[in-house]
Amino acid sequence: MLLKITLIQASLAIGPAIAASVSCPADLPFSCSNTTAVEDLCCFNAPGGDVLLTVFWDTAPSTGPSDSWTIHGLWPDNCDGSYEQYCDQKRQYTNISAILQEKALCTLKTMQTYWKDYTGDDESFWEHEFGKHGTCMSTLNPECYDNYQPTEEVADYFTRAVSLFKTLPTYDWLAAAGIVPSSTQTYTLAAIQGALTAHHGHNAIIRCSGSTLNELWYHFQVKGSVQSGTFKAVDPVGSGSTCPSSGIKYLPKYAAPTTTTTTTTTASSTGTAISVPTGTPGALAGKGYVKVQPDGFMISTGNWYRASGTPATYTAASNSDGETFTLKTSKGPCQVLADASLSCAADFTPSDFGYNGTYITYNGAATFYAASTPSDQDKGVVFTTEQVVSLEMYWQPLL
Ligand SMILES: *[C@@H]1O[C@H](CO)[C@@H](O)[C@H](O)[C@H]1NC(C)=O
Ligand SMILES: *[C@@H]1O[C@H](CO)[C@@H](O)[C@H](O)[C@H]1NC(C)=O
Ligand SMILES: *[C@@H]1O[C@H](CO)[C@@H](O)[C@H](O)[C@H]1NC(C)=O
Repeated sequence: MLLKITLIQASLAIGPAIAASVSCPADLPFSCSNTTAVEDLCCFNAPGGDVLLTVFWDTAPSTGPSDSWTIHGLWPDNCDGSYEQYCDQKRQYTNISAILQEKALCTLKTMQTYWKDYTGDDESFWEHEFGKHGTCMSTLNPECYDNYQPTEEVADYFTRAVSLFKTLPTYDWLAAAGIVPSSTQTYTLAAIQGALTAHHGHNAIIRCSGSTLNELWYHFQVKGSVQSGTFKAVDPVGSGSTCPSSGIKYLPKYAAPTTTTTTTTTASSTGTAISVPTGTPGALAGKGYVKVQPDGFMISTGNWYRASGTPATYTAASNSDGETFTLKTSKGPCQVLADASLSCAADFTPSDFGYNGTYITYNGAATFYAASTPSDQDKGVVFTTEQVVSLEMYWQPLL
C-alpha cells in the first residue's frame, strides 16, 4: 500500500502544493458550521459546505491496485445532504488530462493509478466529476482567482481531491481490523463501520451493490477555501448506508473469472450463453450496445472489453443508401483507421458499417479480429484484417 499518511491534520494544514488563490482570514467558521451568513464565498464553500470524498472498491470489472480503493469524486453537498450539480455550463471541460498535464502533472500521475473509470475511460469520468461537482464549489469560481487563467481551478479541484484521498488509506484501515478482500468471508456493517471510524473519527457512509461492498463516502467540513483550506472530518448527513447489517462481501479485485459466482442482481454477466438478437439486414439506427461474440462488449473508445460492466452506448445513423450506417460514441465517430484498427474519437471520419441480420459488418465481412483475447481490464484493439483471434459484433438496441 503506497498511501500511508497518518498525520491527517498536519498534512492538511500544509495544504496542497498549489498557489492559494486568495488568502482567507483565519477566524472563519468551518463550512456548514456558521451561525451567521458568511459573505465571501471565495473563502467559505457555500451552499455546498458538506464536502464528500467518495471512494470505490470496483471488482466487476476491477480497477486500480488490488490493495487500494480508488477515487470516485470530491462532492460539495449542501449542509442538509441535498446537492447542486452542473453549476456552470461554461466550465464543462473536455480536456481534463491535457489541463493537468500542463498544470498538475503529479496529480495526473496519481489519478492514472487511483482515479479509474470501470469502462477504462478515465478522461470522461474526470470530465463528469469536475463538470457535475467541481463547478459547484464556490471557492473554485473564476472570480475567486486573481488574474484568473481559464481552467486554473481544474488543477486545484483534482489536486485537492487527490491530497484528501491520500489521507484516507481505506484498504489499510480495514485490513488492520482483519477486514480483507475474500471470495468466501463476509463481514458485518458494524465491523466495517468500526474499522473506519477508528481512523476517520466519524462514521462514513458504506454502500453496497446488493450485499457487495463497493463504495464509501467520507464527509468533511472546510475552513477556508476547498483548494487551500483545512479539512475536518464530520459525521455524515443525507443518505445513509446501503449495505445489509451482515453478510457483506468485500470481494478481491482481479479474481479469476472461474471463482466468480454470477449474482442474480446483475443484468450483465460474463460467462453466460449468448443469444444473439437477429433483425432485418440493412442499416441500423438509434442507440444500442455493441456486444462481442464470444464475450464482452465494445467501450466508447471502440475497443473490446470482456469484464462485466455496462457497455458504452453507441449511436447508429443510417446513411442515405439505407444499407450502411455510421457509429459514434461519447468519444466521437468510429473509424477504421489506416492500420485497419477500429477506434472512436473526436474529429474522426465515421466509417460505413453494415448489418447482415445478425452481425455488424465492414466491407461486407462479419468477422473482426484482435491480436489476442484481452484479459480482465485490458482493452482489446479490434481490427478488420486478419489477426490471431476472430470475433463478431452484434447490436443490442436500447429502447
Ligand atoms: C452560512 O453562510 C451561508 C453563506 O453566506 C448562508 O447562506 C447561510 O444561511 C449561513 N448559515 C447560517 C446558519 O447563518
Ligand atoms: C482546455 O479547454 C479550455 C476550454 O475549452 C481551453 O481554454 C484550454 O486552453 C484547454 N487547455 C488545454 C491544456 O488544452
Ligand atoms: C451474417 O454473417 C455471419 C458470419 O459470416 C453468418 O454466419 C450469418 O449467416 C450471416 N447472417 C445472415 C442473416 O446472413
